[in-house]
Amino acid sequence: MMTKSNMISRCIVCVVFFTLHSSLFTALAQTPVYLDETKPVEQRIDDALSRMTLDEKIAVIHAQSKFSSPGVKRLGFPDLWTDDGPHGVRPDVLWDEWVQAGQTNDSCVAFPALTCLAATWNPAMARLYGESLGEEALYRGKSVMLGPGVNIYRTPLGGRNFEYMGEDPWLASRMVVPYVQGLQSKGVAACVKHYALNNDEEYRHQVNVVVSDRALHEIYLPAFKAAVQEGGAWSIMGAYNLYKDQHNCHNDIMLNKILKQDWGFDGVVISDWGGCHDTDEAVRNGLDLEFGTWTDGLMMGKTNAYDSYYLADAYKQAIKEGKYTTKELDEKVRRLLRLYYRTTMKRNKPFGFLCSDSHYEAALKIAQEGIVLLKNEKVKKSKGEKVATPLLPIDVTKMKRILVVGENAIKMMTVGGGSSSLKVQREILPLDGICARFNSLTSHLSPLTSKIDYARGYVGDTIQSYNGVTVGRSLYETRSQAELTAEAVEKAREADVVIFIGGLNKSNHQDCEGHDRLSYDLPYAQNEVIEAILKVNPRLVYVNVSGNGAALPWLDKVPAVVQAWFIGSEAGEAIASVLFGDVNPSGKLPFTWYASLNQCGAHALNTYPGTWRDGHQIIDEEYKEDIFVGYRWTDRLQVKKSKGGKVEKPLFPFGYGLSYTTFQYGKVSADKSSLTADEQITFIVPVTNTGSRAGAETVQLYIRDVKSSVERPFKELKAFRKVFLQPGETQMVSLTIDKSALSFYDDKAAAWTAESGDFEALIGPSAGQIVTRYSFHLQ
Ligand code: BGC
Repeated sequence: MMTKSNMISRCIVCVVFFTLHSSLFTALAQTPVYLDETKPVEQRIDDALSRMTLDEKIAVIHAQSKFSSPGVKRLGFPDLWTDDGPHGVRPDVLWDEWVQAGQTNDSCVAFPALTCLAATWNPAMARLYGESLGEEALYRGKSVMLGPGVNIYRTPLGGRNFEYMGEDPWLASRMVVPYVQGLQSKGVAACVKHYALNNDEEYRHQVNVVVSDRALHEIYLPAFKAAVQEGGAWSIMGAYNLYKDQHNCHNDIMLNKILKQDWGFDGVVISDWGGCHDTDEAVRNGLDLEFGTWTDGLMMGKTNAYDSYYLADAYKQAIKEGKYTTKELDEKVRRLLRLYYRTTMKRNKPFGFLCSDSHYEAALKIAQEGIVLLKNEKVKKSKGEKVATPLLPIDVTKMKRILVVGENAIKMMTVGGGSSSLKVQREILPLDGICARFNSLTSHLSPLTSKIDYARGYVGDTIQSYNGVTVGRSLYETRSQAELTAEAVEKAREADVVIFIGGLNKSNHQDCEGHDRLSYDLPYAQNEVIEAILKVNPRLVYVNVSGNGAALPWLDKVPAVVQAWFIGSEAGEAIASVLFGDVNPSGKLPFTWYASLNQCGAHALNTYPGTWRDGHQIIDEEYKEDIFVGYRWTDRLQVKKSKGGKVEKPLFPFGYGLSYTTFQYGKVSADKSSLTADEQITFIVPVTNTGSRAGAETVQLYIRDVKSSVERPFKELKAFRKVFLQPGETQMVSLTIDKSALSFYDDKAAAWTAESGDFEALIGPSAGQIVTRYSFHLQ
């Protein structure tokens, strides 16, 4: 029988239990859905949205500072910080000014520019790039990186080509997807830019691009589409220019129709800085987040001008007056909230690291894989010498006296170029990298016989600062050009090999945002100095630093040429490792290197920079070359030539790049000779390393439609694979495609079509050298 005291104590236990249980229950019940991580994200978004006031909604769709927008403080959503991008995390500027904030913790690792990444032809490098950049961004508290850029290389004058991934939509697509995935795997959003048709910089706010639907879908959109649909990009940046008379930051066709409706993009459309121009268009035409607007009639950058943004007070007022319901606003806010849950509100993110060894290793590896060996012909040391050998890789036991010439050997290239300019923890300059490696290789040799020297050669741009970041050794020079040339020539006489490090730089009208190059020629006195050196010493290695091709009028006389891009923090080490043979180069050009501008469709048809309309407000740039961009254009010229005509070949074709070893391709076979529209076809080609050192080759598969109802490019890249081979090793390289690789965009049907009939698979080491082919049939 229960005693009275027993009963009392039982009652107490029950009361305590129920009290605890119900308070636990209440606590759980009180966790709002939008904060409840067990709930589906879309449900959390609905809940958050339902709690937000009109002011809060308006606040999250426009900037509050140069690079941030507010979250929703009351509900616990933190600010959203963006930053450039795409080659490293840009140093902080002041809250409301472009001026440097002067932080001491924002020096980063500069990764190679994206042309170099594309030149690796290795998607694993793109993944590594994205992951490393994501870790740097996390450390710096950035949730959106403004990159990567995938605008197509249409003219070699384009000031921002260095930030993009070359001329081919397939190559750019394969490289952008792992970059985006790698970056976002760290909980940092990619903001793929500049969507779309921002293919040159001159008059970038005023250019109205006129392009066929076919060229739009076949050439200019595929990399964006891949970034969105395969990469799952969480944000995208509208371009400055216009398309069909509407700015791309609020363009109905580009954003509402193609991006959101057709591709199912569920992320945030961010305006390029100052790319928004109109409240009504911004409301209706798909812009979600407005940044960088130079305020409406007020002074540019005026403090606290953010309320004057197109999506700020003007929009709120119009809603209050009943011009709009909150339908569009809620849609924008939903997208912002989705971005928050993916980034700022994501709890299980990895930790960030800044300037870690692993990031430097990644930057170096990508640079080494992206450097392209363009020429390496055998040359005799002296007339009496019997055996001619290539200059590269430099053998210090034979080439003991080295002369380095050129401003780009001593110029920091991470500073300048526009918004991708960085403040780096370190940048190894080419001269320093070359000297360091030369000294380590010759430490056991007599200093009397081994010598490395430097001559400036020419003066290009001596400004060593950009947007408040000042760096590097002084480039100040008082000597005349004649004196500089004379010095280079005198020193070259004595040298066993001359390494000329030239090309472009990141100053205005070079590889730089805001304007294009003024000429296809190498700037400054470079050609003159090279010619003068060649007269006394033909043993010259030309190392070109740029994101663009250039005319090389002395090419026939120069035995070795290396394309070294803008390769960031580890530039000097990467260049030296290739020159001295520690690394066997394996990069391939991501664009056609024209001999002159006439070989480029945009220029041959005189379409650039366009035609001003009356009133000088809008300049129409008609892409008359249509789908024939890059090798598609030069191939077309060659086809015409075969029918009678005279055409010069480009200096180096798309996909071209040599190695210190040699590769031999066997005959391609396939798993079938005929496929249905639902099937895939796999081609197999044996590739052998026939040289004496390990190396990598990128096997490229181009598709040719033998007969079509519409004119098609002679061939188009549709698959590639980079393989690493030991000396003597053979690999069976397999490349698989399906119907999509055989399709063209039918602008009448507004759809991709593959016509049944005969096709050819053309395989080779570049677009200029097809070594084996396979005919097949699409049923
Ligand atoms: C550039 C963008 C950049 C933005 C922010 C703009 O001028 O076009 O690429 O992300 O500035 O710096």
